[in-house]
This record gives sequence, C-alpha cells and structure tokens, in this order.
Amino acid sequence: MFKKIIAAAFISIATYLPVSAQYNTLWIPDTLSGTTFNLNIKDTFRQIVATGQQTITGGINGNFWGPTLFINKGDTVHMHVKNNLNDSTTIHWHGMHLPAVMDGGPHQVIPPGTTWQPYWKMTNNAATYWYHPHLHEMTEEHITKGIGGFMIVRDAVESALALPRTYGVDDIPLALTDRDFSTTNQFQVVPYGDSMLTNGTLRAAYNVPAQVLRFRVLNGAIERSYNLGFSDGRTFYIITSDGGLLNAPVAVTKYILHAGERVEILVNCVGQSGTTVDFKAYNSLLGGFVAGGESFPNGPFANFLGHKDFNLLHLNIGAQTSNAITAIPTTLTTNTLLNTANANITRKLTMTDSTGVPGILGPNAFIINHKLFNINYNEYQVPLNNTEIWEITNSTAFGHPFHIHDVEFNILSVNGVAPDAAQAGWKDVVFCPGATGGGPGGGGTPSVVKFIAKFDDYADALHPFMFHCHISLHEDEGMMGQFVVTNPDAITNITKQEIPFTLYPNPANNKLFVSLADNSNEVYYITITDMLGRTKLMLPKPELQNGIDISALANGTYLLQLIDTKTKTISAKQFVKK
Ligand code: C2O
Ligand code: CU
Ligand code: CU
Repeated sequence: MFKKIIAAAFISIATYLPVSAQYNTLWIPDTLSGTTFNLNIKDTFRQIVATGQQTITGGINGNFWGPTLFINKGDTVHMHVKNNLNDSTTIHWHGMHLPAVMDGGPHQVIPPGTTWQPYWKMTNNAATYWYHPHLHEMTEEHITKGIGGFMIVRDAVESALALPRTYGVDDIPLALTDRDFSTTNQFQVVPYGDSMLTNGTLRAAYNVPAQVLRFRVLNGAIERSYNLGFSDGRTFYIITSDGGLLNAPVAVTKYILHAGERVEILVNCVGQSGTTVDFKAYNSLLGGFVAGGESFPNGPFANFLGHKDFNLLHLNIGAQTSNAITAIPTTLTTNTLLNTANANITRKLTMTDSTGVPGILGPNAFIINHKLFNINYNEYQVPLNNTEIWEITNSTAFGHPFHIHDVEFNILSVNGVAPDAAQAGWKDVVFCPGATGGGPGGGGTPSVVKFIAKFDDYADALHPFMFHCHISLHEDEGMMGQFVVTNPDAITNITKQEIPFTLYPNPANNKLFVSLADNSNEVYYITITDMLGRTKLMLPKPELQNGIDISALANGTYLLQLIDTKTKTISAKQFVKK
C-alpha cells in the first residue's frame, strides 16, 4: 500500500517535471588502485535505454566498460586479466611504454577461460590513458560491446600542482562514444551511432560544484571525432596531451578530439552556482573529411549525428566544495622534447586507399604503405634506443588518427607547420588530415605529418608493436602495420636445446615453483594448459622467485610450457594441482 502511494506520487510529479528530467545521471566508473589489478571481462547486460529491453554489453568487473585504474609512476603493476567471454580477445594498454609481450595487441590473444598476467614498471607521465580490446578484425565489435576502461597515472610533478583531483567530484572522466541501437535496444556494430553515450549514459547530466573542474576526456568512439566546446562559448583550458602535462594550460573555445586521443581540460565554474551549461560536440563546424563532419543520410555510414552539434554532458552547477580549486594554474611542467639532431632515421609511411592494389580489396579500404595488415609481417625493425622521425603522407581524401604503440612522441609538423600549443607535448595519436583540394575519390595535395620518437628500454624480436589508424573500422579492415624493436648487441648464435627445469612441489596446491637447472637461462613465457589443451594461464616473463599462483585452477593434471628468452625453445613438464 505504502509503495503504491509513493509510486502514484512519482507519476504525478513526473507529469510536471521540467525538461531536465529527460537527462540521466552520468555514470562514473568504479576505481581500483594499488599494484595488482583483477580484471574480469565478461558478456553481460545493462539498462541503457530507459524503456524496453536491456542491452547486451561487454563489461570488465561490471556491466559496461571497466574500472578506472589509478597507478603511480614508478610502481610495477601486475594485471590479472581473465577472459570470461565466449570469444578470444586481448586487452591493450593504450599509451603505455612497456615490453611488447605485455602490450595486449593482436599478438597477445587471451583465449576464453584464460587469465593473462602481464606486468610492467610504470614509466609514463601522469596523464589519462585507457585500455581496450585489440583482437585483429574484432576490435570494432569488442569495443562496441563496451569493453574498456581508463588508466589514470599520477606522478610527483602533477601531484605538486593545484589541480582538481577528487574523482567523480571535480575530477571527472568522460569516455565519449556513440552507438546505434536496434529496435530491441541492442548495439549495432557500425562505425557511426545515432546516440551519444558519455560513460555509457544516454543524455548524460551531472551535478558539479562551482569551482575549477577537471574533465579527462577520452575519444573512445569507433570512428567519430568530437569538436569539444561549451554552450555559452566559454574558454576552457587544455592541460594535457595524450601522454603528459603541457608546459602551461592552453586557452581554447573549441578543441577537436579524434578517436583514441585523450585531453584533460580545466573549466572555471567559480561563482556560477545555480546555473547550467552544456558540454557539446560542435561537429557542424567539422570539415567533410574529418570523421563526423559529413552527413550521411543513407547507406552504411547513415547516422543522426553527422555534421551536427549535440550534447555530451549537461552540467548543473551547485555549491562549491571545501578546499576547492578556484584558479587556473599559469604553468604546469617543463617538457624536454626530443631533438631532431638526435634522429637516426626518417621512416616514410603512406596512407592510401586500396585502388589498384591487387587482391580482394574494394576501392574504399584504406591501407598503410600499400599493404593490408599481415600479422606475420614486420614492416620495420627498429634498433633499440633509436630516435626516429616518422613521416606520414596521407593521399586519401579522409583524415586518419594515426596511433603507435610503445612510445609517446612529439609532433614535429603537420603540413610543414609546427603543432599548436595544445599538441606540443607528448602524444600517441596524431591526426593526419586528408589530402587538400581533391575530391572524395582522392587527388589533391597529400598532407604530411612528422613526429619524433625514441624507442628505448624494451627489445623483443618475437613480439611486435602496432601502428595503425585508430578508427577501429579502418584498423580492422587492415589499416595497420607492426614493427619489432631489436637489440643488435644481444644477437648471438645460439643452438636450440631444451631448458632443463623442475617443478615443485608436485602435486602443488597454491604455489608452483619453477627451478631452472642453469641460472643463466631466462624464462620468456610460461603457459599452463589443461589436458584438453585449453590455456588457463598466460604468464609473460614470469617472476619465478614468487612462484606461480595456481590457486584458481581446478584440481587435475596440467602441462606447463616454458619458452626461454635466448633460444625461444619450448620445454614442457606436467604437474598436478591438488
Ligand atoms: Cu588504442 Cu593499437 O590502440
Ligand atoms: Cu595503443
Ligand atoms: Cu583511418
């Protein structure tokens, strides 16, 4: 009875609620911190559309997207990534400098039911990064399901600044993406959606305090770029590029964020309690060959948001919190950028469409260096510690956000012009504009983008790093290549032979120890498979002194396969879990 009265009261109020009632409260991802992170990827569902069926989604630990990982620079982080999907997938740590075998690109496939345990020392600067699936030809589909998450790196430089950092209050992550829903509320795997989703929330609104706010904005879309701005035209301040703080905040009123890019912005709301403002995408201002700048009324790219302005987040500004940040800092850090005088090589890359390339491609696929991605082919062998200039010539009419793994780079020039201040820091995605003066089919003057990067710390001849267009559709269609970083000093002539080792205790219960007969050998990879050949644990470069935690394995007999670093020989032994 009581319940019924309440319900009736809500109905009558609802009739008179103002327009704001159409908004949904922005969802803020949970957080995890420390040095060991347990991530369970699963198929799940979530009520995203207010009425009707739930949407089948992919989530990490929850029912959409994943937790925000807080990581301190200098810490060694251990990831336990369990794939509970029915499909293989990967999890890539976008923007991180780490060994290729830990990178989570298309080579580090996690089969269903398997736990992958990469780890690395965080050397990246404080900034906003993200993790997402990267299985070749499946990236668009797996990202569409909602699998991904933020990584927020902190360091001493950033911590010393007077910046907002109360998560979910004045320091707010915003994952921007758009989705197309079927009539039964299911995600469609398409490059452009009809509905804006901010942190998985449709028509998102949020209550924020009247002070300086920090938004960590990620373009997590399949294809679309977002031209960020505020409905009152206010100035906001860019404080980071992808991989770290800028030297000083850069005042802008609009900023175009392309797929894969992140930007942290400060917005001054001091004295504005009781007012509202909309954070918007001004995509009607985008040119026709920037993703989202074209209107496609029909066909495979048809969508409602093309070449339009639309809301990303409605802000209700309320009372200031105690200890609020109320001023925009004037300086942030001093970046020492890479010097072209130290470059060992200039690599020239091309972006073209596939016209005239023999094979199965239609004229609309985009490719790099006139080749379709081939997972068994390394385009470059980069000597360890090389400083390199990469020069990308885009002769397609369309603009492509180019991303490279392993490194953060500095943009040198875009069509001969030095980057503006907001792009003059550390980056891992660079927008390569389309050729100018041509038609949709091409022609015109190609655009040329140059950046400089240093490839230090991690050499591995076996596992490559990727470079690709971050539009997942283009990437899946083959607009990707790979390179290995190799250490010429480490190459010696080695004959292959099995590496003698013992396992103890055997049977084992919680911890299994591996002891190498020859201590000069080093383990590159261990996999543990059950007797049906299903991989259960994938351990890149395991830290053997700690033993292998096998407590999650069911009782039974397993095969441990060990690959050694020098010869890449596989040696194997059985053990029993009791
Ligand atoms: Cu964000 Cu290779 O990817
Ligand atoms: Cu990446
Ligand atoms: Cu592209």
